[in-house]
Amino acid sequence: VTAHTAIVGLGYVGLPLAIALARRGHHAHGYDIDPSKTEAVRTGRSPVDTVTDDDLQETKACITASTDPRVLAECSTIVVCTPTPVTDHGLPDLRPLTTAVETVRDHLRPHQLVIVESTTYPSTTDSLLRPILEGSGLTAGRDFFLAYSPERIDPGNPHHTLTTTPRVVGGLTAECTNRAVAFYEQFTMVYRVKGLREAEASKILENTYRQVNIALVNEFAQLCHAMNVDVWNVLDAAATKPFGFAAFRPSSGVGGHCIPTDPRYLTFHAATLGLCFRMAETAHEINVAMPDWVARRACTDLDDAGIPPGRAHVLLLGASYKPNIRDTRNTPAIPIALALADRGVTVSFHDPHVGELTGMGQRLRRVDDLASALRAADLTVVLQRHDCYTDSVLTEGKRIFDTTGTLRCSGVFTL
Ligand SMILES: NC(=O)c1ccc[n+]([C@@H]2O[C@H](COP(=O)([O-])OP(=O)(O)OC[C@H]3O[C@@H](n4cnc5c(N)ncnc54)[C@H](O)[C@@H]3O)[C@@H](O)[C@H]2O)c1
Repeated sequence: VTAHTAIVGLGYVGLPLAIALARRGHHAHGYDIDPSKTEAVRTGRSPVDTVTDDDLQETKACITASTDPRVLAECSTIVVCTPTPVTDHGLPDLRPLTTAVETVRDHLRPHQLVIVESTTYPSTTDSLLRPILEGSGLTAGRDFFLAYSPERIDPGNPHHTLTTTPRVVGGLTAECTNRAVAFYEQFTMVYRVKGLREAEASKILENTYRQVNIALVNEFAQLCHAMNVDVWNVLDAAATKPFGFAAFRPSSGVGGHCIPTDPRYLTFHAATLGLCFRMAETAHEINVAMPDWVARRACTDLDDAGIPPGRAHVLLLGASYKPNIRDTRNTPAIPIALALADRGVTVSFHDPHVGELTGMGQRLRRVDDLASALRAADLTVVLQRHDCYTDSVLTEGKRIFDTTGTLRCSGVFTL
């Protein structure tokens, strides 16, 4: 076993970690079941838009990528960064995580440190993953070390990065925590918590806090619309309070891997304990209903303009789930497009970062020429404010529904 690190899952979480380690001269071995990911890393074409091809080029001497799990046995530390999605019924789908941990088990060696970074409900590492790993015949805390440390990466955020954001770390035993703390201190600051469950719970609390606050402003925006109050003006005003108020912005819906799914893990786990986590349940209901509210607002505007939705053409701008990235996981663009299509609207989208958008078996029409698409559309709905969507470019549109509240050109209406 060498002082190398194996990273299981080369996605939005695993690959930046490999880069951070490699930048400090450490060797990172990426293992992924998806050959397109490992091939992309090997050939210097980043599979995620938060890592550039230049990042891979700069660190290539220290990073390997393979679909062969035997590399796990050769490393002193193994970090698991596989997805934790929800099923179609909104329940935790732990299979990618348990499958990955079974692979780790099959290559586990004495003295290795195993760290789980995937977001999950408290007790997963101890109650579900530890028994899998101990199926190797080795005992956690004695023969190998086990810790949990949630990734807090915010894709596309240049101000808070993996190396500038403190890490929360909790281990099965004090020695497990010490080992994991020493690992992360190689490239960032560390906050040590009591144990595995506290570390798991801290991540879900952070994401539920965001989910609930986003739901609060989303519902508040709907109320403001009914009261003929400018919600953005109110939010800017409230944000001048230097204490006791954290500014969240309403939007067309919540996307990404984390906010729509992670609180579901906690509500599921609460239910197994006979409890109901009402805040998260209510917030989820409000947020998932937002795309339909946006679609209804769009149709009302078309009706008011004398254009029956059944004869209207709506252009959606920004198909990713946040600005200036290409990640479309859980993007609100899909439910909005489907809700508009249900009302007879012809829908297309423009997004320089997104090549194709499919949802519920349908492929949405993509347009390349923004200026002519703006002129042709009866209504343009701005879902994400990518840098290319400047006020001057958008003046070409006939009428603009800005769900981001950031456009300043005339003729725009907002949430
Ligand atoms: N994306 C984010 O912003 C973010 C932020 C914080 C935490 N997280 C959490 O981190 C975890 C990973 O998220 P992500 O966004 O990096 O996912 P991702 O889908 O971008 O990457 C996961 C990778 O794991 C690979 N994989 C799946 N099963 C595997 C297996 N059995 N063995 C090896 N590789 C396997 C996939 O092929 C994929 O390349 C999730 O639990 C997520 O909730 C994500």
